Amino acid sequence: MEGAIDIAVLASGSGTNLQALIDTPDLGAKIRLVVSDKPKANALSRASGAGIETRVIEWGDYESRESFSNAVVDAIVDSGSEMVVLAGFMRILSAEAVSRFKDRTLNIHPSLLPAFPGTDAVAQAIKHGVKVSGVTVHVVDEKVDHGPIIAQRAVPVLPGDDEASLHARIQVEEHDLLSKVVRAFAAGEIEIQGREVIWR
Ligand code: GRF
Repeated sequence: MEGAIDIAVLASGSGTNLQALIDTPDLGAKIRLVVSDKPKANALSRASGAGIETRVIEWGDYESRESFSNAVVDAIVDSGSEMVVLAGFMRILSAEAVSRFKDRTLNIHPSLLPAFPGTDAVAQAIKHGVKVSGVTVHVVDEKVDHGPIIAQRAVPVLPGDDEASLHARIQVEEHDLLSKVVRAFAAGEIEIQGREVIWR
């Protein structure tokens, strides 16, 4: 892929968002590395299946958030990646690690932030009784699910929805939106000015 930027994807789970990136032919980004904190994460199999280098960095092998985060950053730097995508990565990186890739780290979250940050966003939305939820792609800063919002897409919450059915509806939008944002980001079409994100 000529002119593509190199990216690293961090994932703890099934990796359907990673798969969406792998399957996007005109992404303008080459996935150099997939890092997981979970040795059995299906995201790792998806990466290997696509010929992408993988690294497992387990939380329990480090004595602090800082040392864990430094290991993750070192792996990303070693891969030559210029940009990082958190696609279902369930660990919080240290502020210092985040600052190493400031304004070049994206996260995808299954709610319309700032509603329902943190874990269990989909369950929280159901429990709260909202009629609309959705997906947010944002820049990562030192606070959880807080950085500048790049794009959002709304999804209806339907009568009878449970966490699984709503999450499945959200994930359809996640896969499309994440690919579009990564493509735009890689093409230099997204400018971040404080909390303001401008699409060129
Ligand atoms: C997604 O819903 C994402 O928004 C959240 O974690 C989930 C990861 O799903 N951060 P997958 O592993 O990409 O299928």
